[in-house]
Amino acid sequence: MNERMSQTDIFAGAELPNSQEAFKRAAELRASLNHHAHLYYVLDAPTLPDAEYDRMFRELQALEAAYPELLTPDSPTQRVLGKVLEGFTPVRHAVPMLSIRTETDTEPTGALSFDQRVRKQLELADDAPPVEYAAELKFDGLAINLRYEHGVLKQAATRGDGETGEDVTQNIKTIGQIPLRLIGVSAPVIEVRGEVYMRRDDFEALNERQRQAGEKTFVNPRNTAAGAVRQLDPSLAAQRPLSFYAYGLGEVQGWELPPTHSALLDALAKMGLPVCADRTVALGAAGLVAFHQAMGAKRDSLPFDIDGIVYKVNSLALQQRLGFVSREPRWAVAHKYPAQEMITRLNAIEIQVGRTGKLTPVAKLEPVFVGGTTVSNATLHNVFELRRKGVRVGDQVIVRRAGDVIPEVVGRVAEPRAAYVPNFRMPRECPACGSAVVRDKGSVSHSCSGGLFCPAQRKQALLHFAGRRALDIEGLGDRLVDQLVDEGLVTSLAGLYKLGVAKLSALERMADRSALNLLDSLEKSKQTTLARFLFGLGIRQVGEATAKELARHFGSLDALMDASVEQLLQVRDVGPVVAKSIHTFFAQAHNREVIEQLRAVGFKWAEGGGAAAEQGPQPLLGKTLVLTGTLPTLSRDAAKDLIEAAGGKVSGSVSKKTHYVVAGEEAGSKLDKARELGVTVLDEAGLQALLAGAA
Ligand code: IVH
Repeated sequence: MNERMSQTDIFAGAELPNSQEAFKRAAELRASLNHHAHLYYVLDAPTLPDAEYDRMFRELQALEAAYPELLTPDSPTQRVLGKVLEGFTPVRHAVPMLSIRTETDTEPTGALSFDQRVRKQLELADDAPPVEYAAELKFDGLAINLRYEHGVLKQAATRGDGETGEDVTQNIKTIGQIPLRLIGVSAPVIEVRGEVYMRRDDFEALNERQRQAGEKTFVNPRNTAAGAVRQLDPSLAAQRPLSFYAYGLGEVQGWELPPTHSALLDALAKMGLPVCADRTVALGAAGLVAFHQAMGAKRDSLPFDIDGIVYKVNSLALQQRLGFVSREPRWAVAHKYPAQEMITRLNAIEIQVGRTGKLTPVAKLEPVFVGGTTVSNATLHNVFELRRKGVRVGDQVIVRRAGDVIPEVVGRVAEPRAAYVPNFRMPRECPACGSAVVRDKGSVSHSCSGGLFCPAQRKQALLHFAGRRALDIEGLGDRLVDQLVDEGLVTSLAGLYKLGVAKLSALERMADRSALNLLDSLEKSKQTTLARFLFGLGIRQVGEATAKELARHFGSLDALMDASVEQLLQVRDVGPVVAKSIHTFFAQAHNREVIEQLRAVGFKWAEGGGAAAEQGPQPLLGKTLVLTGTLPTLSRDAAKDLIEAAGGKVSGSVSKKTHYVVAGEEAGSKLDKARELGVTVLDEAGLQALLAGAA
């Protein structure tokens, strides 16, 4: 944001407030902005429109620019400013940041052995009541110490070696979830400890942006978060969306500790810090096991990675009694889950053809247990990314499976290869249908150009062909297309038109009536326009607008089919990639065959001479028509196209300026209105006569 511009923006025409007013107003704005940031980032319940937040933000920026002495460290404007650092300043932790013992046994026994150790240390008798624990998620990010003095964030530091970390305050301030001022806290010192992490959706979106830009992708959310926090340029750090959860304390002065860890987390949440809701107070080992299992079942649907559960003795007094052993508290343990990243061998690379024709290199792996399931296939995204990661068949690779995201190969283990292995190449022909493979326009991916000919794309192609903006076949939806293709009833577009009532009615959940309706709409779809027909073919890069331009320019399908790339380039808005795609499509014999088959089942459209030749006859030039009711053979869209092709206009309402009303069955108030105004009413035959220029 440009501060100087916003300063003039905000106070343009208005008086700059005097310094006393400015002081008061800045304090109001700071409090309000911090309050709304808490509602927005932490509670996820905004009550202020973004635009109003931005306006207040700019007003505060402008005040601070006019009166620099108003600037305070808790001002929300301080989240984004900051200069590139040469290095981080070391910070000695007032209270060391310890780590916790890890229970690598992912089975319930992991919880049992921790509970037994605690009971033994506390010298509890076998029949003494169960110990109360706080159980919470073990976030997979990096530990941060936030130092608040008199409620204001003064410093943020990484863990480092536990004794000394690094000052990363600038970067941490870019995290919207981290309050710059705590709510209702005036204690001289409260250090809050927690985990900075990246949500999976933020990570995926970041990687997708990188992929589209042909740039290096990040390995996993944890490394990306750690990299962002230790980024010397705060503006780069701000571009990596980070989140935070508080889970403990460091140094405290002038604040009375609550009696339990769970009450402490409640208190931190009240101060405005994000505290994860997935936590519980558990009784004994059984309670811990139940939570470990419940969260294990929920793990995939959490929006972030966790690598286990942390169990803590809930009473702070008991924690103190238990103390530490070799830099680890005796009162806490991390109980792991199966790893989300594993190493395995890449046996082969195959190409998968998606519903849209996109070709994806897929890694065939030595089966490996990762993220809770056995994985033997993982995506390599695209050939450019695969190359950048340098993976080759035979390599040891790192596989990641986290959440609902499909397993992926994130990199290779750097070790010398025993023998030379050639780099992977994209095939020139689609493995599913043999059609030519083309590189997608402005993208790093490749696709099969086979379209409707390709069995992998058949369903999608049929749905596209039947779509409202294409051939508009009413009643041919997702479910029916699945049935038709899965049962082998339709293998080509023309095949749709060879279905009889008998075959259709035999389908599950298909009533006779719906079968008849479908046949009816199939019949109607044959009378169409060249533009719709072209769009319906699903030629890559040919959208509705391009199809219209092509139809207008060439006038006939044959002329288009025989056009050279140079001729195609003459068409408005058609560039080299689009021209090549169209040319490749029609150059393939199987695509021409599909078109022949469709012509053979009776497809028809009006063919003009094209823009290059003379314009076709325009019998409806200057005429306005209104359509109402259902016509016997033409769909509404088809009728509209025909009228427009003949130079006419279709309007939604009848007025004195309407030339004709075309009425079908169940025509309503528009027909009454036409009669009332004395507008000529036609049926479909009458319209056809007009179009033919006979009327
Ligand atoms: S408590 C003295 N609670 O796990 C106990 N740590 O080795 C201090 N971590 O690097 C840690 N989630 O960053 C605690 N809910 C949680 C945690 C958690 C993740 C990380 C922490 C530290 C490591 C512990």
